Amino acid sequence: MSSSQADVVVVLAAGQGTRMRSPRPKVLHELCGRPMLGYVLDQALSLDPRRVIVVVGHGSDLVRAYLDGLELGERLAVVEQKEQLGTGHAVQCALPELGANPGRVVVLYGDMPVLTAEALEVLCSCQEESGVALLTTFPGDPRGFGRILRNSETDAFERIVEEKDATEEQRAVEEVNVGVYAFPGRELLAYLPRLGNDNAQGEYYLTDVVTAFVRDGHGVTPVILDDELEAIGINTLSHLAEAREVLQWRILAEHLAGGVQIEDPGTTYVDWGVRIGARTRILPCTVIRAGVEIAEDCEVGPFAHLRTGTVMEAGSKIGNFTEAKQTRLGAGSKASHLTYMGDAVIGARTNIGAGTVFANYDGRAKHVTTVGDDAFVGSGTILVGPAQVGDGATTGAGAVVTGGKSVPAGETWTGVPARPHRRRS
Ligand code: UD1
Ligand code: CA
Repeated sequence: MSSSQADVVVVLAAGQGTRMRSPRPKVLHELCGRPMLGYVLDQALSLDPRRVIVVVGHGSDLVRAYLDGLELGERLAVVEQKEQLGTGHAVQCALPELGANPGRVVVLYGDMPVLTAEALEVLCSCQEESGVALLTTFPGDPRGFGRILRNSETDAFERIVEEKDATEEQRAVEEVNVGVYAFPGRELLAYLPRLGNDNAQGEYYLTDVVTAFVRDGHGVTPVILDDELEAIGINTLSHLAEAREVLQWRILAEHLAGGVQIEDPGTTYVDWGVRIGARTRILPCTVIRAGVEIAEDCEVGPFAHLRTGTVMEAGSKIGNFTEAKQTRLGAGSKASHLTYMGDAVIGARTNIGAGTVFANYDGRAKHVTTVGDDAFVGSGTILVGPAQVGDGATTGAGAVVTGGKSVPAGETWTGVPARPHRRRS
């Protein structure tokens, strides 16, 4: 193991999140199209641990189902904390999975999605031998956090006092405990079982383990996080919205670095995991949801909404007031204005006219409509799924191609319901 990695990561994710005012387990609330816990598992995996132990409690069935879907294999262990008796108790629940000689153990919170891998690397590199390292920060408002007490002369770390146990004077301290630690496994195994709950909340505090380290003369190294935003723990929907903004900016910055031209990042919403090719232009007020793929040299927006399952091939364009869902738009094809494309498969170099609607839903089921290469779908066409428009075919403005119909290659169909167009002689 390198000095900036961990052997085991324990993720505390048992809390209820009452203040989210939702029955959904807190750690499954989404930011940029991905559950909070997904970001935290990335943090954990960035330390290349042998084992990741997730402590679940409230809504554990749903959390387990999400974790199963990630297919992390043998590396992942899930343990149940039936009653939330405190952070120390939560880590105690992980004891059976820690083994006899766990090595370096990092503790993370499932509700802290903004923390970076870089901060955790620094934390690990500051943890030495039998000492513990912990993250601290100076937030604008320290309310709710445990305070870091240091020796007034030497500035050395002395202990953490929880807000509810703190005196007036201690509450005035501005440095707080983030709650993220790198422990030496052997000492952690020794101290954990000895925790008591004689405090204002009657909880088993993980912070008391840190106090025991100090008492026995082991080193405790506070590592100050420069960016307090990284320490946002999500307890309310306001916190969620705040954290989302930070993560959104990171996602956009990555696309910008990859050559995606984003005119106004402030009004551009791109979910986590979306693939966008270089030189694609994203115009303002555009929403691109998880699971969308956009090739290079495309144009999207302004005011476009791309939903899951949408694929744009190279050089294609989706313009203003256009929504696409489960739709493949072929290379060089365009849907420039006021269009809905649902469950559509569209070939290359095809033009989808203004106001076209792929009527994919008949009230019972969704139906796929296909349009070939080099086709021309006239303005205001309604394609009632399942329908087909062949290669090089044309529909006239306002045509309604009814369900099950197929416009043969090269033909022009017009009218309601659409039929082959006959020129008057
Ligand atoms: C804890 C720290 C405090 C620190 C703060 C930072 C202790 C005693 N205090 O506060 O010093 O400033 O974090 O946010 O550790 N959890 C469980 N099971 C439990 C209790 C908590 O899984 O029994 C999980 C929660 O879901 C959450 C995390 O642990 O993800 C932190 O719990 P929370 O109650 O927010 O922290 P505090 O104990 O108040
Ligand atoms: Ca608490």
